[in-house]
Amino acid sequence: MNLHLKGSTALVTGASQGIGRAIVRELAREGVTVFATARNEELLNSLREEVAEETGMALVVFAQDFTAPDGPHRIALAALAALGHVNILINNAGQSRPVDITGPEQPWTDSMALDFDRPRQLTQELLPHMVERQQGVILNLTSTYELRSINVSAVAKASMAAWSKQLAGQVGKYNVRVNTLQPGLIDTANIRPYFSDEERKAFAAQEIPLGDFGQPQDMANMAVFLVSPRAGYITGSAIVVDGGMRHYPF
Ligand SMILES: NC(=O)c1ccc[n+]([C@@H]2O[C@H](COP(=O)([O-])OP(=O)(O)OC[C@H]3O[C@@H](n4cnc5c(N)ncnc54)[C@H](OP(=O)(O)O)[C@@H]3O)[C@@H](O)[C@H]2O)c1
Repeated sequence: MNLHLKGSTALVTGASQGIGRAIVRELAREGVTVFATARNEELLNSLREEVAEETGMALVVFAQDFTAPDGPHRIALAALAALGHVNILINNAGQSRPVDITGPEQPWTDSMALDFDRPRQLTQELLPHMVERQQGVILNLTSTYELRSINVSAVAKASMAAWSKQLAGQVGKYNVRVNTLQPGLIDTANIRPYFSDEERKAFAAQEIPLGDFGQPQDMANMAVFLVSPRAGYITGSAIVVDGGMRHYPF
């Protein structure tokens, strides 16, 4: 299927590894010029080399701590300078943050910043440009919410889901689409610490109809479709990629 993405530009956060890295590679395969940001410069540079070798596309990489108060502004300025304009924004950076039922404020502040405030601020930096150009696509990576213990990231992502829906309602008239993409359990560094191989097998056998955790590529396949013109009538939606793990039908 031709996704009609060739010649587009995209900004992807959390691009150095895991789901973000797979999304960058897939976008480049579709002929998108990508601005990829995260903290780990070495991983970003290796991604740039991989992408150039496989697709011939020139990836722009930018090492930046997204949690820095001026992180979103710096990323937006650099992306606009490098790309001219940003057609697609993929807010992917994030990290699981389990906490006790009581405890210090810092993990809450840090995780709410990384998983909600900074992506919202980065979006706000780019929205005026999208509105002016009457074109834009925003895809926000969220999370699974059927947890039985507190994880700040999932709380932040719930804010992200509500905000995305509200934003979609306001910017549709400018031809700007906003969706959330909700992974179940995807095999990345983000979740490996919480599951040994044995635990993963046992959990998947019981909870995941398709029998195992997903791969970053599974998320990338859906992400490129959602940001493409093929998904032109999809906005304000929450799309799940979880091997059937979610229990609730609606
Ligand atoms: N994997 C899953 O099962 C799962 C489940 C639910 C939700 N998610 C969500 O999916 C998204 C991608 O997660 P993943 O599983 O691919 O995780 P991952 O492999 O750990 O990758 C996370 C990415 O975020 C970047 N990042 C983290 N902290 C950052 C910071 N302070 N500044 C800039 N970049 C930062 C990391 O880059 P650097 O370390 O180089 O900065 C990395 O590129 C996240 O939003 C996550 O919450 C994943």
